[in-house]
Amino acid sequence: MNVAVERSFAEQQDATDPLAHLRAEFFIPRHAGGDSIYLCGHSLGLQPRGVARVIDEELRHWAELAVEGHFASSRPWLPYHEQLTGSLARLVGAQPIEVVAMNSLTVNLHLMLASFYRPRPGREAILVEQRAFPSDQYAVASQIRYHGFEPSTALIEIGPRPGEEVLRTEDICTLIEREGHRIATVMLGGVQYLTGQRFDLEAIARCARQQGCTVGFDLAHAIGNVPLRLHDWDVDFAVWCSYKYLNAGPGAIGGCFVHERHARAFDLPRFAGWWGHDKDSRFQMPSRFQPIPGAEGWQLSNPPILAAAPLLASLPLFDAAGMDRLRAKSLRLTGYLEALLQARLPNELTILTPRHPESRGCQLSIRLHRSPSAARAAFDLLMSQGVFCDWREPDVIRVAPVPLYNSFLDVWRFVAALEQALQ
Ligand SMILES: Cc1ncc(COP(=O)(O)O)c(C=O)c1O
Repeated sequence: MNVAVERSFAEQQDATDPLAHLRAEFFIPRHAGGDSIYLCGHSLGLQPRGVARVIDEELRHWAELAVEGHFASSRPWLPYHEQLTGSLARLVGAQPIEVVAMNSLTVNLHLMLASFYRPRPGREAILVEQRAFPSDQYAVASQIRYHGFEPSTALIEIGPRPGEEVLRTEDICTLIEREGHRIATVMLGGVQYLTGQRFDLEAIARCARQQGCTVGFDLAHAIGNVPLRLHDWDVDFAVWCSYKYLNAGPGAIGGCFVHERHARAFDLPRFAGWWGHDKDSRFQMPSRFQPIPGAEGWQLSNPPILAAAPLLASLPLFDAAGMDRLRAKSLRLTGYLEALLQARLPNELTILTPRHPESRGCQLSIRLHRSPSAARAAFDLLMSQGVFCDWREPDVIRVAPVPLYNSFLDVWRFVAALEQALQ
């Protein structure tokens, strides 16, 4: 991208951005009398202005209707999660029966592995990324042990080639082809949390299924960030959280995808709870579990209404903007960030995230050409000046311009602030 480094260029881009009005739907944290530079949506998305209203409404329903709120309110709590299904299905490229909002990410990962990781001697391995998010690593290692196997032999980790930062799809597929006979489940991220690399989920799912492995993805950094087509890609399962790009607030309800192929696989082992039981007979309190067909059949408990309500304010913004338009803006916004960094700080940093736009979402991960302590000092200085990005050990600064609420001017101001912090 040929880039003009002047502030006026960013302002022009914002003036013609068809999605610029969406910024006004969010609270932008303030700093020194103005908007801070918030580039941390990969960690916690900003609060949509509509959230307080939906939460207040639920509090009012509770105050006025009490237990009757389950049935008699304008948004009855009993089928509450069903209101979220359509938008979530659109975001992950699924049919409604394949999607459910429930629990939080790591809980859902365990529930999915309980059904889709079915190891047997000789085929007990799980394939993960070497630098998978720690919670995923703990989850898969504990599942391996739970089944009586040892992570030292049953956990296969794939890393970048020596001297490289990101994984190559060909290496992932070659490993699956070579080791597939002993891999029960392939479990990777959709977008890598540390490097921002977007994986080719379609190719990986194809390789895994060709080798008879089940395949699932952690979409924490992918949902609401990059387009997904889980149904067409034939993925077995996926899990996500809603507090990053879905802007549903800290600890918000997560979600889960189970491919339609498994919708009526009632003999698949699973951990069961009453909310996964057939809706028509649930309140007859039968002692025998009869799962709801589809992803809903993996629910355990009645949903946390106050942790689900923010999605009712947030998901309509995605429906209104459309993932295609958001992605188009995201490509421009992150491309602009990359080009500005290269133009203004060519010798100061390395971008770890893949350069090819198709191989990344909105996040760029940056390593400063400083000692770790000097890099950390520059980061701390940025934060003290109202520049929200984040630091991941040992030396990575993650920055994510989010197309829903970030502007080109945010990006310009960030690069100017970084330049100053490095002087
Ligand atoms: C990639 C990834 N996986 C898993 C998790 C854990 O999510 P939770 O605490 O909702 O289980 C996170 C949290 O940030 C994450 O970034």
